[in-house]
Amino acid sequence: MSGSLFWTEFPKPIVALAPMEGYSDSAFRQVCKAVNPAIVTYTEFTSADGLHHSPDRVRKKLAFKSTEKPVIAQIFGKDPETFVSAAKLIEDMGFSGIDLNMGCPAKKVVKSEHGVALRKNHTLAFKLIESVASATHLPVSVKSRLGWEDDSDLDAFCLGAQSAGASMIAIHARTYAQPYKVAAQWESLYRLKDKLSIPLLGNGGLTGLADGYAKLKHLDGFLIGQAAMGNPWVFSTTNPTPSFHEKIPIIKAHARYLIDDKGERVGCREIRKHLVTYCKLIPNARQWRSELVHVESLDAIESVLDRMADTIPQLPN
Ligand SMILES: Cc1cc2nc3c(=O)[nH]c(=O)nc-3n(C[C@H](O)[C@H](O)[C@H](O)COP(=O)(O)O)c2cc1C
Repeated sequence: MSGSLFWTEFPKPIVALAPMEGYSDSAFRQVCKAVNPAIVTYTEFTSADGLHHSPDRVRKKLAFKSTEKPVIAQIFGKDPETFVSAAKLIEDMGFSGIDLNMGCPAKKVVKSEHGVALRKNHTLAFKLIESVASATHLPVSVKSRLGWEDDSDLDAFCLGAQSAGASMIAIHARTYAQPYKVAAQWESLYRLKDKLSIPLLGNGGLTGLADGYAKLKHLDGFLIGQAAMGNPWVFSTTNPTPSFHEKIPIIKAHARYLIDDKGERVGCREIRKHLVTYCKLIPNARQWRSELVHVESLDAIESVLDRMADTIPQLPN
């Protein structure tokens, strides 16, 4: 499939694990794909400047397994030159696509005029898209928000992004000013869809596949983020609410993937937050928590999970 047609020809609706710094690393992407091999995955956002100046270090962070495909590498920044060299590296690494982050609201990112700050500078945003699209054969997509304080520039921004060479746009249906507790506003996306010729994916507040299908209407797909934390089964088409016993093989696989990628010390440190989320609904979760946040080895992780399972009665299927 050629780059510009990749998203147009991709089977619809497109379902994706949203990019999430600190969560959507290779291990978590592998786990979500094990639950539903049809989903698209995104990397955590990665600095284009970092890729340009320290390619070996950042390459390591971006490494992925073929089972994660289609996997989209997401970059942020504001310098067309570093975006182009990042794009070439991403293409060399064998990614399925490249996504430009124009939605991150983190203070540090916005202060550097990256992420959602590009919504205040359409000219630069379009130049970045154009530079990347003409430097790579990969499909180039953009992820952004409704806008800064309202959605008044949404249509102009997305139409401009499309003209600059974006072949898919994903919009988190909240503005920069809206905290997560404000309900996502998908109506603006349905209006936008009628004006765009490239695929448009919606994102924000989805609780699972059924919710995504209900909100989809005539959009081309959706991204699920926070609902997948500790719950990759959110992507399951067959068993979205497994028992704890059914979850254990996937939780163990997650720990194994993380430790394989990052080594036992870092892997164990990083798996702890996932373990706490995976196990938050089991009886006496608070008591188990103190053990989960201190695990130091794969053996210890497997042992605590097995002991937990022993305390919970197996329900007949
Ligand atoms: C912890 C966390 C990290 C995130 N990191 C990124 C990121 O690296 N790139 C990005 O485009 N969005 C990032 N987001 C935003 C999500 O991709 C998504 O747009 C947002 O969470 C709304 O979707 P949800 O309600 O399904 O979580 C992050 C969100 C969270 C909660």
